Amino acid sequence: KEVKLWGGRFEESVTDAVEKFSESISYDKALYKQDIMGSRAHATMLAHQGLMTASDRDSILQGLDEIERCIEAGEFVWRTDREDVHMNIEAALTDMIGEPAKKLHTARSRNDQVVTDLRLWCRDAIDKILSCIKRLQVALVTLAKRNEGLIVPGYTHLQRAQPVLLQHLLLSYVEQLERDAGRLVDCRGRLNVCPLGACALAGTGLPIDRFMTSDALGFTAPMRNSIDAVSDRDFVLEFLSANSIAAIHLSRIGEEWVLWASEEFGFLTPSDSVSTGSSIMPQKKNPDPMELVRGKSARVVGDLVTLLVLCKGLPQAYNRDLQEDKEPLFDSVKTLTGMLEVSTEFAQNITFNRERIQRALPAGHLDATTLADYLVNKNIPFRTSHDIVGRSVALCVSKHCQLQDLTLDELRNVNPIFDEDVYEYLGVENSVKKFASYGSTGSERVTEQLGFWANKLDVN
Ligand code: ARG
Repeated sequence: KEVKLWGGRFEESVTDAVEKFSESISYDKALYKQDIMGSRAHATMLAHQGLMTASDRDSILQGLDEIERCIEAGEFVWRTDREDVHMNIEAALTDMIGEPAKKLHTARSRNDQVVTDLRLWCRDAIDKILSCIKRLQVALVTLAKRNEGLIVPGYTHLQRAQPVLLQHLLLSYVEQLERDAGRLVDCRGRLNVCPLGACALAGTGLPIDRFMTSDALGFTAPMRNSIDAVSDRDFVLEFLSANSIAAIHLSRIGEEWVLWASEEFGFLTPSDSVSTGSSIMPQKKNPDPMELVRGKSARVVGDLVTLLVLCKGLPQAYNRDLQEDKEPLFDSVKTLTGMLEVSTEFAQNITFNRERIQRALPAGHLDATTLADYLVNKNIPFRTSHDIVGRSVALCVSKHCQLQDLTLDELRNVNPIFDEDVYEYLGVENSVKKFASYGSTGSERVTEQLGFWANKLDVN
């Protein structure tokens, strides 16, 4: 057995079970790029500070280039007995270049190394998710543009509420996604500080320049407190929280679209390319991708909960428990990215069924609130209007008709204030036309919103 990098004080080697249980190489090799990047910056700084010679630095940099090339070519042998990505790379470098490699870990610990890698990794992951969010927003805005003027029932409590423009509904998803992106941008800004040089927890007496490594790695500043630098994973928690909120938004879109794709609603049809069939029922065409978007949101939330519980009992500074931060982080990013990509493809491949929607619209007295506003315009206090319209709706229920089917006499029987102009307020088309407030479903307002998003997202 090879002697461990930390083997000096040990007389026995670890048992196979412990070795297998403790390794993280099986998953933290995903950090190889960040780890090499960090080592390059660290070696360059050490040489600049006179802690290694320029020639040692050059051998290290060349060796790291070669290791990176090997990894990317699939030629690198990852060894479980070398435990994690940091020791695999350092030991491989030593095998490759010999003595100079032994200087690389000067004024560095795996504790500051791993959290530096992780911050760098999160930075890239956030950028990737942000572009996925944008692509989904673009798909939704494009879908909205294709469905101008289409009115759909708006629901509260999943009961018919008021008519809205489909565009308005689609843009409501776009707004939510924009806040999801904003949370990730905030998180990225806060996590972009450099722990490198915190060493194990206390810093070092060696003359390192933490500002230099921080700059070289594109961080905004070195972290002020070395204990804090190696202790906390709040940046991962924040990232996974933001991911969870985004995942919940996608899950809700998934639920809505699954519902709308049902025979009972029939408001939308996904194309065959985003549907799947049944192994027993030959007629079936299921919206599985969006069901899985809904389902996979559970994993993203689970990943957050795993990390929250992982951190809750930890005393300050590095604890080995923190090795368990990586799998939930990687899973959250991978899952959310997939959810965003599939939601985008779904949005690109659905058709809203104008005819079915139009047939559904007359039911449910969607114009009742607009009728109450009509009475308010006639100076009736709103509570009284509510009651008058409520009684008109009750009449419709007993007659199995809609408000616009009531004759003026029937309406006047409920209350004499009704006039001929009432019919300008009834029916979903008229009702939607009456909306005017900022942010409302009125067509001018929605056109403004759509213009704003099309411009912002460059959709034409
Ligand atoms: N593999 C470890 C992790 O992921 C690296 C840090 C280990 N540090 C230590 N002192 N054992 O957290």
